[in-house]
Amino acid sequence: MLLMVILLNTNTIKAAIFDAPKEVSVKITNVLESNENLTVHCKSGDNDLDVQVLKPNVVYEFNFKTNVWGSTLFFCGFSWSNEFHWFDIFKAKRDDCSKCTWSIFQAGPCLYGPKGICYQWNRQ
Ligand SMILES: *[C@@H]1O[C@H](CO)[C@@H](O)[C@H](O)[C@H]1NC(C)=O
Repeated sequence: MLLMVILLNTNTIKAAIFDAPKEVSVKITNVLESNENLTVHCKSGDNDLDVQVLKPNVVYEFNFKTNVWGSTLFFCGFSWSNEFHWFDIFKAKRDDCSKCTWSIFQAGPCLYGPKGICYQWNRQ
């Protein structure tokens, strides 16, 4: 009887702490109003996806699997002419998309979807 109670509690705790890992696809499109090339460099804690140069309206895509801790984070540097900005392109706690489609405007990135949201560049 005591053992059963302990098992139930363990399962409750697991359900609360662990997220099911999922495949995520991130697409980034250069829609800079100035029609310039956009240089993108995305990384996570243990992946460096190298520098990509996107011509106007070109789409760059990468895929990954989220971790069970809900802490998956990919961040990118974006640069064109004299501008350089950081943005957290995927944050498990913020983004519930599995196909995350971003358009990069000069003012910041916008996520496509029913709740299409535009964000500011990271401060710093
Ligand atoms: C944009 O990039 C392409 C190749 O990646 C290059 O040929 C072109 O000159 C670049 N355009 C500008 C305006 O820098």
